[in-house]
This record gives sequence, structure tokens and C-alpha cells, in this order.
Amino acid sequence: MSQLTMKMRIGEFTTGLEDLCRAFVGPSDLLVELGCFSGEATEIFARFAGTVFAIDPWAEEYCASISEGCVDQGVLNYIQDAPVPSMGEVEAMFDARAGTLANVIKLKASAEDAVRDFADASLDVVYVDAIHTYEAVIRQIVDWRPKLRRGGVLAGHDFSPAWPGVMRAVRETVGEPEQVFADTSWAVHV
Ligand SMILES: C[S@@+](CC[C@H](N)C(=O)[O-])C[C@H]1O[C@@H](n2cnc3c(N)ncnc32)[C@H](O)[C@@H]1O
Repeated sequence: MSQLTMKMRIGEFTTGLEDLCRAFVGPSDLLVELGCFSGEATEIFARFAGTVFAIDPWAEEYCASISEGCVDQGVLNYIQDAPVPSMGEVEAMFDARAGTLANVIKLKASAEDAVRDFADASLDVVYVDAIHTYEAVIRQIVDWRPKLRRGGVLAGHDFSPAWPGVMRAVRETVGEPEQVFADTSWAVHV
């Protein structure tokens, strides 16, 4: 598989996220995606939301932390065996796949820095999919939840026993998700 056509959201990893969008995302919604990688989810969000703010630093350091927080040996083996493009190549894939979509705004920044650019209660949906350790997910939720309007949607990826820090961080902040989808995305109104 060529790196420029690399696709990780195959089968239920696509349909699960589409189901989340049908249930939780409206056509005029302002949606933030934290952690975009090569833009596969961004492209899906862009089909359902009004505007997608795609936030990712695309920094080489990420490659060292890609599996941090994962306890499932099968998933770890998959990550280890997968072709590992540089983050520069990953960003180029994002640009080709999602960067030219009219309703996608690319913000090359960390979630921690980008949060300062958004007013409180200004967003409809925040999807958390950056670093998957307990500490990182808690920080992303605590930082970004105030940016959601009342009744907005907090969501994210990897609500799964393979990533116990994600499950713990979600449960400690917003409780049990309203729904968990086939791709292990989770969502809750806040
Ligand atoms: C699991 S991938 C995202 C996958 C993407 N959401 C999808 O479903 O196609 C995680 C991404 O988080 C990004 N990332 C790492 N640290 C970050 C941070 N502090 N803020 C935002 N994104 C970060 C990485 O660069 C990487 O591209």
C-alpha cells in the first residue's frame, strides 16, 4: 500500500463514525476534531457538519507516543507492523484528502495551544482523538468542554478496553457515553 493512499478507517471504522455523525452532528454544526492524522475522519465529519476545525501539530514526536496508553497486544502488534510514514508525509496526506475541502479549516497546533483561539460556548461538537493516555484525555476534555454550547456534543475515539485511560477519563468527567459506535467512537450531550 502506498503511503499516500494509506487508509486505516476501513469497514466499521468508517461506518461507525458515519453512524455517530448521523446521530450527533447537524448540517450547520461547528465541529472541532482534536488529532486528525491523515484526515480520514476529517473527511467524514466534513460530509455531515457545517464547519470542521481540524487541529493537529503534525509533529514528529507523535510517532514515539502513538501507542501510549494501549494495553492490547493485538493492537500494539498492529501499530508496530503498520507502515510508519513521517509526520510530514502524514500531513501531506491530510492536505490531499481533507485540506482542500471548503468547510475544513486546518489549524496546525496542539490541542493545548489551539483551545485559546475558541470562545466559551462557541462549538457544537468536539471530537477527542489525540494522545490516548488518561492524563492527556482528561486534559483535552477539561480544556475543551467549556468551549461547547449548552447541549453540545463531546465525543471521541477508542472507548475500548484496549485504551483504559480513555474509558477512565471519559467516565470520570462526563460519565457513561450515551452511545458507543462500531468504531469505538463515543458520544454524549453535555
Ligand atoms: C489517532 S491519530 C488521529 C486519527 C484521526 N482522528 C482519524 O480518525 O483519522 C492521533 C493524532 O493526534 C495528533 N496529536 C498528537 N498530539 C496532539 C496534541 N497535543 N494536540 C492535537 N493533536 C495531537 C497526532 O499528530 C496524530 O495525528
